[in-house]
Amino acid sequence: MHILKVNLKKSSYNIIIGTNILNHLGKYICKLNIGPDAYVITNAFIKNKYGGLLNKALKESGFSVRFKIVPDTEKSKSLEVATLVIKDITHYDKKRRFFIVALGGGVIGDLAGFIASIYKRGVPYIQVPTTLLAQVDSGIGGKTAIDLNQGKNLIGAFYQPRLVFSDVNLLRTLDKRQVQSALAEVIKYGVIKDAELFDYLEKNYQDILDLKLPALEFIVIRASQIKAKIVRQDEREEKGIRTILNFGHTIGHAIEAAARYRGYNHGEAVALGMLIASDISKKLNLINNATAQRIENLITAVGLPAKIGKISRDEIIKIHYRDKKFIGSVNKFVLIKGIGKTKIVKDIPLKIIRQALKIRT
Ligand SMILES: NC(=O)c1ccc[n+]([C@@H]2O[C@H](COP(=O)([O-])OP(=O)(O)OC[C@H]3O[C@@H](n4cnc5c(N)ncnc54)[C@H](O)[C@@H]3O)[C@@H](O)[C@H]2O)c1
Ligand SMILES: [Zn+2]
Repeated sequence: MHILKVNLKKSSYNIIIGTNILNHLGKYICKLNIGPDAYVITNAFIKNKYGGLLNKALKESGFSVRFKIVPDTEKSKSLEVATLVIKDITHYDKKRRFFIVALGGGVIGDLAGFIASIYKRGVPYIQVPTTLLAQVDSGIGGKTAIDLNQGKNLIGAFYQPRLVFSDVNLLRTLDKRQVQSALAEVIKYGVIKDAELFDYLEKNYQDILDLKLPALEFIVIRASQIKAKIVRQDEREEKGIRTILNFGHTIGHAIEAAARYRGYNHGEAVALGMLIASDISKKLNLINNATAQRIENLITAVGLPAKIGKISRDEIIKIHYRDKKFIGSVNKFVLIKGIGKTKIVKDIPLKIIRQALKIRT
């Protein structure tokens, strides 16, 4: 079992990672002294698969457990669902000291974290991530959010969990596309910060796709270390350090939106975004051909796309200029100087972006 500490001024917490460790969760929650009652937000599928195990783990440590089921869709990240859950909590919360447990992927984690951040101005919550994406990315860092019709993640707060408990054994029921999509984020960590992780992925990606537990545990530890370190240095994305996590996301988000969220999923769009960022880095002579090729080879080896397909390039360009992270109309890209080294570049000529997009058509 690995314990990583996320050291933050007011709200430090541990990330615990291991294989077959869910039965130890209760012990770790006891140490936090956050009350006797667990309010578990999850969906029916996950409850069916892992609810029994979680229930047992918590009850054995003396906690009471109540499950709240929300629909299994991104639509659960909405004001409507948040309001329903909060009303349910008010019935349950009769002067008890309770805490929230997010048992699920990024959708459940973002929703549960959001509710925890606003209910009575903040109650403790714990992340028990059940998807690879949630274990390597969304479960860590305290970004909570719900969506509006006007855009994804528009309402939310930075609100850190009290514990992240990642049991890679829960990942064995994931389907291949979910694993591939999350692998895009893991490749991202390698490219921006960790050449050794990148090497490991080149050698072991098949084990990960085959859901071999030691390989899953290795990448979850490595990715969590990187994200935790970045969050530690720039908790609220104010210092420009957390920005590097957006590698591949500027164009990636635009691709997702241009495809109306029906074509490529997030990880696939990020894979394309990383390739385009790498193409731009090559055009600006920041990296050589061999480096760009290594990235492309890994992305395609895991089964992520390397071509944009039918999505309109003009639409991608138009949408990317609406990116909320741009200041005025000056674009800003996270580029790379090599595997593991980033460089933020502003105001890249449109012509270069267009050329990079063209390569990927
Ligand atoms: N807060 C952040 O920092 C952050 C970062 C990245 C993404 N996100 C958010 O995360 C969300 C995406 O997360 P996701 O990819 O985990 O999607 P998800 O939560 O929708 O989960 C994907 C699917 O996997 C199923 N599932 C969950 N655990 C499973 C398991 N162990 N076995 C089999 N199936 C399982 C879920 O029921 C769901 O159908 C998006 O809403 C995104 O905005 C947040
Ligand atoms: Zn992402």
